[in-house]
Amino acid sequence: MSITPDNTAVHPDVERVLVTEEELYARNKELGAAISADYAGKEVLVVGVLKGAAWFLSDLTRHMTCDFTVDYMAVSSYGAAHKSSGVVRILKDLEVPLEGKHVLIAEDILDTGLTLKYLIRNFLGRGAASVEVAACVVKEGAQEEKIDVRYVGFVLPNEFVVGYGLDYAQKYRGLPYIGVLRPCVYGE
Ligand code: PRP
Repeated sequence: MSITPDNTAVHPDVERVLVTEEELYARNKELGAAISADYAGKEVLVVGVLKGAAWFLSDLTRHMTCDFTVDYMAVSSYGAAHKSSGVVRILKDLEVPLEGKHVLIAEDILDTGLTLKYLIRNFLGRGAASVEVAACVVKEGAQEEKIDVRYVGFVLPNEFVVGYGLDYAQKYRGLPYIGVLRPCVYGE
């Protein structure tokens, strides 16, 4: 059994670990401090994009000292496949109006950018005063849409990654690290 640098056993379906639990903690702390400084004196609505962003939002907001509230939106673009369908479906909408609010979208991953393109346009259309993005992972070279991500956790190679909210067929979300899924798991 392989072991991560922080001494955690690695799931057998994971080929290699890209970001350890310690690195996630440290980066979230840095991002939380940067966000708190940028939004000092303002109130920000942190919108988590379910399901994947729940882990990132939860840890990130622990390091935010500015005033904030939280809401969630559930969208889906992948289904059970491992490649984007390009179709964004709203499965659960926000509970609060966005008129005049400063919105920070918390996303687990920016892949093609289709989800964020849709959400940013949608939120501005609802009258948000500003819309910024915090993404735990940005996949290098995968974007079909140009998205301005103000707070980037990690830029990772364009491979199939799981853990820390990221799934394959709804599995692996609870892994405390981010790792590359073995291709044999998804049949390649
Ligand atoms: C994933 C992820 C992002 C989106 C990014 O969501 O959480 O929301 O894909 O991909 P894109 O940049 O290509 O649009 P998914 O639809 O898999 O739902 P989940 O969060 O429930 O896993």
